[in-house]
Amino acid sequence: MSELLVKKDLDRILREANDPNVESSQGTLKRHLGAFNLTMLGIGAIIGAGIFSLTGTAAATYAGPGIIYSFILGGILCAFAGLCYAEMAAMIPVAGSAYAYSYATMGEFIAWLIGWDLILEYAFGAVTVSIAWSGYLQSILKNFDIHLGDFALRFFAGPWTNVMLNDGTMARGIWNIPASFVALALASVLYRGVQESAKLNNVIVIIKVAIVVTIIILGLSVIDMNNLNVNPNATGLGSLVPPAENGRFGWGNGGVLTAAGVVFFAYIGFDAVSTTAQEAKNPKRDLPIGILASLVICTILYILISLVLTGVVNYKQLNVAAPMGVGIDKIVELRSWSPAVGSFLSSAVKIGAISGLTSVILVMMLGQTRIFYAMSKDGLLPWFNKAHPKHGTPHTATILTGLFVAICGGLMPLGLVGELVSIGTLLAFLLVCIGVPILRITNPHVERPFKVPAPWVIGLIGAGFCAWLMFNLPHDTWIRLMLWMEAGLLIYACYGWRHSKMASESAERKSINMTLVRVAVLTLIPTLIWAYLTFGRA
Ligand code: ALA
Repeated sequence: MSELLVKKDLDRILREANDPNVESSQGTLKRHLGAFNLTMLGIGAIIGAGIFSLTGTAAATYAGPGIIYSFILGGILCAFAGLCYAEMAAMIPVAGSAYAYSYATMGEFIAWLIGWDLILEYAFGAVTVSIAWSGYLQSILKNFDIHLGDFALRFFAGPWTNVMLNDGTMARGIWNIPASFVALALASVLYRGVQESAKLNNVIVIIKVAIVVTIIILGLSVIDMNNLNVNPNATGLGSLVPPAENGRFGWGNGGVLTAAGVVFFAYIGFDAVSTTAQEAKNPKRDLPIGILASLVICTILYILISLVLTGVVNYKQLNVAAPMGVGIDKIVELRSWSPAVGSFLSSAVKIGAISGLTSVILVMMLGQTRIFYAMSKDGLLPWFNKAHPKHGTPHTATILTGLFVAICGGLMPLGLVGELVSIGTLLAFLLVCIGVPILRITNPHVERPFKVPAPWVIGLIGAGFCAWLMFNLPHDTWIRLMLWMEAGLLIYACYGWRHSKMASESAERKSINMTLVRVAVLTLIPTLIWAYLTFGRA
């Protein structure tokens, strides 16, 4: 039992991260990133499918124009987590992020679980967004009057997804080629170097932010702030929230809270900045700047864009895959601009969206490769611990992550992976929020270049918020999380337990941990029954 709780000494973590002798045989990560690049990486990971797709559905189904409050709530939750990440990242500036922080605070077993859980956030985050990327590509092709034949259409979705053919009939997809393509193309950029990746990210972020800001400016110029487009019978949180009509999840104040859980996805990504700690020039100063500045900028943009969208279009019309397109069409109509201007702006919005998605995939994959690298260096995973001698990137982790994302993106349905991302991220945030006050007690003297004010209050409220959002997620998401964690338990019992660099010389550590195997199998049984009762009846 005590072996499971073995903690990595903070000094040791920092020494290993910075000691060139430890790494020279395998190459080292290179320190290229300053505060600007780190902030851009944060924005690159945050603004994506959440704002370009989910906002409309959340406004139409749950919150109406009160979606603004949902974004404010989501921003506050992420501010708690962001502050905790900022303290941890500046204090423990190593590649493993939440995985490494947990190794120092809660021991190896929890660290393994959180590292395994982070795959849900980063790798499955990239998979989810690559599938959305493929959808946006298809709609851009339509904008340019390129119409795909039935056979080609079936290569825009995986085999468990239905595709509408040109004659209106449905058929199964075969392999989502664009999703696989974008994953492999971005993996090849990541392989070349973190500087190259940051440069590409900067260009993409400038395009997508320019487009979001343009929509905000155009929208603000047409909406009447004294007479927002709200339901005249609105009640609840001011006049922006339509009255509850739909039972528990429909509008009203409850709808605002439900929508906050949905739009949480839009905020995911700022924490990816912390995974580049070993590539930051001045991590102690620049990581908190990168994490917090990207979060603040995106929160402001999100609140304004939701104000504009629900201000120009009735929220009930926003339940579409590309709500920004609906918003821009309405602005063009209200300003009586020509169809040519309308079509130009509509294409620009789609290009902004697809570039937005591209940088999310890039930074999520970047984060995943650094987590794999850190776990592998600790002996908990095989293969991933090499850094390229010339490019200074974790190249084996990059190749394997690229292949994993490409295969899953090519085959899996969006709904399956999307929900896992939020629950996986919330679990990581929760543990980081708890870790901050714990480390204040266990390691009070370690230098903290950035300190969270009132750590117990911020940490515990942040953790409570995360737990609350997790409990509001559907049962099937929980079942998938349980299955994923049980698989992780088995892998740790059979591999990480035996190969960990922290493993003592005890005979116990030389063979498979049968207790953990039994726990995994025993917990698997109720999970499978729960899965049967949930999915079998559906
Ligand atoms: N926040 C990222 C997005 O919305 C994951 O695409």
